[in-house]
Amino acid sequence: MSEKLKPSNRLMNVAAYLPKGAIFADIGSDHAYLPCHVCMQDSTAKAIAGEVNVGPYRSAEETVNHYNLANMVDVRLGDGLAVIRKGEIKQLVIAGMGGTLIHAILENGKDKLKSVERIITQPNVDAKSVRTWMVKNNYEIIAEEVIEENGHFYEIIVGDLNTSGNTLELTEKELLFGPLLLQNKSDAFYSKWKQEMEKLKFVIIQMKQANVPVNDKISQFQSELEWIREEIQDGKNNP
Ligand SMILES: C[S@@+](CC[C@H](N)C(=O)[O-])C[C@H]1O[C@@H](n2cnc3c(N)ncnc32)[C@H](O)[C@@H]1O
Repeated sequence: MSEKLKPSNRLMNVAAYLPKGAIFADIGSDHAYLPCHVCMQDSTAKAIAGEVNVGPYRSAEETVNHYNLANMVDVRLGDGLAVIRKGEIKQLVIAGMGGTLIHAILENGKDKLKSVERIITQPNVDAKSVRTWMVKNNYEIIAEEVIEENGHFYEIIVGDLNTSGNTLELTEKELLFGPLLLQNKSDAFYSKWKQEMEKLKFVIIQMKQANVPVNDKISQFQSELEWIREEIQDGKNNP
């Protein structure tokens, strides 16, 4: 099929972290645009498109059949990593969902990850939850990006299985902002955290006005606000 598939820039940025000849699963694949795009670009790649919901699963099958990719992209219905057999994949993609759900999918499917050298995630929110899972489970964060699409900010977090024997550690601040993102702050990083700061200020005001203010939570958010101020005050989008 010569017709080109044009996934979103967000998905293309995620796909760019797969090596040539990838043998991977895309969990929560929806229309299977990512695995189809990768397999159309690389005839040596092999993919599993996993979906827990029947509607998106059928959409994935449709895309795969439309582009005659059934010999390269295997569409499977099931929850998280339950669709994968042990040792079957070398890379894993989980994109376009909350960090807490990504964390749960990784944690529940841990036994399927022994052969997985690279995990590429794109949490829409709660990226901290993904970093926390990676550091606890010996995946070293080797790349991070903040991207903006249609007014939303997304993070991409890539972890490689740590074979050095060294214990991985991240500070609370690194877990929140990203260890690599902190070292090399992009325009999108400043814009994202400026937006987060405004949201957080609003939440704190609302919480203080509540009939029963939750003081612990308020002080946690205030410390987070202070961290954000510290990290973006050197930037182009000064608060
Ligand atoms: C918003 S879509 C993201 C689709 C695509 N990955 C992307 O980034 O554009 C999230 C998809 O994840 C699927 N999903 C949610 N929880 C899942 C789980 N536990 N296992 C597999 N798929 C899941 C949903 O059915 C939905 O199709």
